Amino acid sequence: MENRTRYAFHVTGQTGWINDPNGFSWYGDKIHLFFQHNPYKNTWGPMHWGHVTGTDFVKWTYEKIALSPDRPRYDSIFGAFSGSAIEFQGKYYLVYTGCNLRRQTQCIAVSDNGVDFTKYDGNPVLDKKDLPKKSSIANFRDPKVWEKGGKVYMLVSAKNKYGGRSRLLLYHTNNMTEWSYGGVVFSNQKAKTAALGHMMECPDIFTLGGTDVLIISPQKVKGHKNRDASVYVTGKLNYGTGGFECAEKNVREIDNGTDFYAPQTMQTPDGRRVMAAWMATWNRVPINALLGCGYAGALTFPRELTLSDGRLFQNPVREIERYYTERYEEKITLLGGTRYIEELSGKVQNITIEFLPTGGKTGISVFDDGKGNGLKIYYENRTVTLDRSKVIRDFYPSPSATTAVCDTPSDAKKIKLRLLMDKYSCEVFVCDGYSAMTTTVAPLDAQIKTYIFSDEEVFVTVARDRIEVK
Ligand code: FRU
Repeated sequence: MENRTRYAFHVTGQTGWINDPNGFSWYGDKIHLFFQHNPYKNTWGPMHWGHVTGTDFVKWTYEKIALSPDRPRYDSIFGAFSGSAIEFQGKYYLVYTGCNLRRQTQCIAVSDNGVDFTKYDGNPVLDKKDLPKKSSIANFRDPKVWEKGGKVYMLVSAKNKYGGRSRLLLYHTNNMTEWSYGGVVFSNQKAKTAALGHMMECPDIFTLGGTDVLIISPQKVKGHKNRDASVYVTGKLNYGTGGFECAEKNVREIDNGTDFYAPQTMQTPDGRRVMAAWMATWNRVPINALLGCGYAGALTFPRELTLSDGRLFQNPVREIERYYTERYEEKITLLGGTRYIEELSGKVQNITIEFLPTGGKTGISVFDDGKGNGLKIYYENRTVTLDRSKVIRDFYPSPSATTAVCDTPSDAKKIKLRLLMDKYSCEVFVCDGYSAMTTTVAPLDAQIKTYIFSDEEVFVTVARDRIEVK
């Protein structure tokens, strides 16, 4: 069968469906990564929490399912929705949304070994009575927890009863079971921009270099690639009032590609902020399900985040370099046209191309069959375009699902495109993480070649590292 294998270094379910990353955290000398999971089907269904652990973000071990939809009182109908994890007073807690008919409540489960979780008898820990007046219990979900000054804080999203908008709410606790309301963090009620959509799903918040970064995955946005997007705003969380004071009004999309939603972050023991997202999007069947791979959906390769002049930069975690096996580098003068580079053939590799921008188009085609059918990524006039129309068979006929565009720094002297490829996916990092675009692809066996192309004479440095994960 053509192309129905596992990714080399991206997390999927062992079987079935996955969506959002959950509980991304460090506990007991390991990275824990959970995910929304329906182990029984390649479609969304009552949610479990799948679980993998590892030490380097590349190699993962499947653990048993951490949470199942088994409590008729609060989570057995739609299951254990998204949430996060934290170590508190020596124990490891999962904080998640229990979802039953028209009722979403916040629940906890606790472990002292990192693999067996016991749901708290007193669940839910946040219910209708804990909501401020305007909020609805029907859409109250996706708690993100963190510790500050001995207290645990929770950021959770709640839709308003009327008007289709939502608010992010703050709660805090000293013991994980009793939570107090701490105010409205952020609201999209009056947003002049359409960028904040309706329900703001999967919020996350963290500090980078003294600035707080708020991440949100709003549903039904306008002006973004996908119907649902993932965006960030920078500012400062006021722990006294609960309000997020924005340093700038700009709401920026985190990743401009076709397959990126519901990112969540963790902090590594060495202080890095690392983010993973669902490598798919709602309203489109994940590519591996369409291919009949036996599983549906994957998570992005984790990225290190930094902030510079209020802009979030993202780059693959450096641990991937430990799996580089063979480097190839060449400096090429391309006199316009297309050049085949045999050494860059392959589907599991890291490719970088660097060039001085010309007045025309310069780019790369990977997953190419040699007949012009490939995943094309090219720079032209300060933007980078990704076009996967020739490498997704006839799965997504809509043009809006096949192309994506992102910015380059306005003062960029050199353009650098980094492609992290893994069989069915390509994560593109532009100018050292200034922009990112994630896409999934469905190449045929013959679509394995790499070309560079340009309208004009251009000097290009290409480099390739093969990635081998045994
Ligand atoms: C985001 C989301 C969350 C919810 C989960 C359910 O993709 O809709 O809001 O908790 O998926 O699987």
